[in-house]
Amino acid sequence: MTYTLITGAGSGLGRAFAVECARMGRNLVLFSLPGSGLQSLASDLRTENRIQVQCFEFDLRQAEILKEHILFVTEHFPIDFLINNAGIGGTSSLTETPLERIDDIIQLNVRSTSLLTRMMIPHLLREPNSYILNVSSMAAFTPIAYKTVYPASKAFISSFSLGLREEFAGTGLSISVLYPGPIMTNSNTSRRIIHQGLKGKMGLLATPEIARIAIRKTLKGHPVIIPGLMNKLNHSLLNLLPLGLKLRVVSNEVKKEMQWSAT
Ligand SMILES: NC(=O)c1ccc[n+]([C@@H]2O[C@H](COP(=O)([O-])OP(=O)(O)OC[C@H]3O[C@@H](n4cnc5c(N)ncnc54)[C@H](OP(=O)(O)O)[C@@H]3O)[C@@H](O)[C@H]2O)c1
Repeated sequence: MTYTLITGAGSGLGRAFAVECARMGRNLVLFSLPGSGLQSLASDLRTENRIQVQCFEFDLRQAEILKEHILFVTEHFPIDFLINNAGIGGTSSLTETPLERIDDIIQLNVRSTSLLTRMMIPHLLREPNSYILNVSSMAAFTPIAYKTVYPASKAFISSFSLGLREEFAGTGLSISVLYPGPIMTNSNTSRRIIHQGLKGKMGLLATPEIARIAIRKTLKGHPVIIPGLMNKLNHSLLNLLPLGLKLRVVSNEVKKEMQWSAT
């Protein structure tokens, strides 16, 4: 009777993770911001899959509230799979980005992921086999102008996850990191993909497909998960370029897309 804990489960990729885990018969502990429709998702998942679903709506940036929730959850539900999915980004010149937005990206993507993982590991280690899936991004592979803080936060997730994987090698805990390309989840990314035309659509995978690939590979113990052939190819080709050139190529693309993005 173990559970999978998913952050940002109310929408986008997090919701797709919840649906996929439910289909696999996994019980769920779901975290989301208040008002993201989590209760109705949970009710559908319970009815359709005959699983247990527990919901908690709060802001992950509030460390004390996060701590209280983890204490409660770990006391009541044995967790064997943690999916750190919640994360935010944006595209704008640094000097035009509000200070609060920069703080929000760092608090959610970096701070809450690190604290939650730190608090959960002792509990995950109680299970004979347990898993962590951390959601990074293809953006982690290159510094990117006009995004700067977001790719840096996702590079942190990448380094943090692979370091932890090594630290817990030989235990029952396996840690994986997912590097999705653009996904049509929120309106901002969808707008950018639509305006890219054929180029944008070529590497595009449906959100449920990304969730399915990521969960299956995590449960098989893969360290690094890049979903989709085009994204793998893109990553390999960009790796052939010297860093300065790679930075310029990727940043120029992002600069062209700035008109379609809201911060
Ligand atoms: N979309 C893309 O193109 C793309 C590409 C690569 C990587 N990613 C990564 O994939 C993950 C999911 O992205 P997405 O596009 O599905 O998300 P999204 O639609 O942009 O929504 C943001 C996600 O973060 C959660 N969230 C935001 N602020 C929060 C807060 N203060 N406390 C708790 N949760 C908060 C939301 O949770 P609720 O809605 O449940 O409240 C939601 O799941 C993120 O880590 C993102 O960086 C996305």
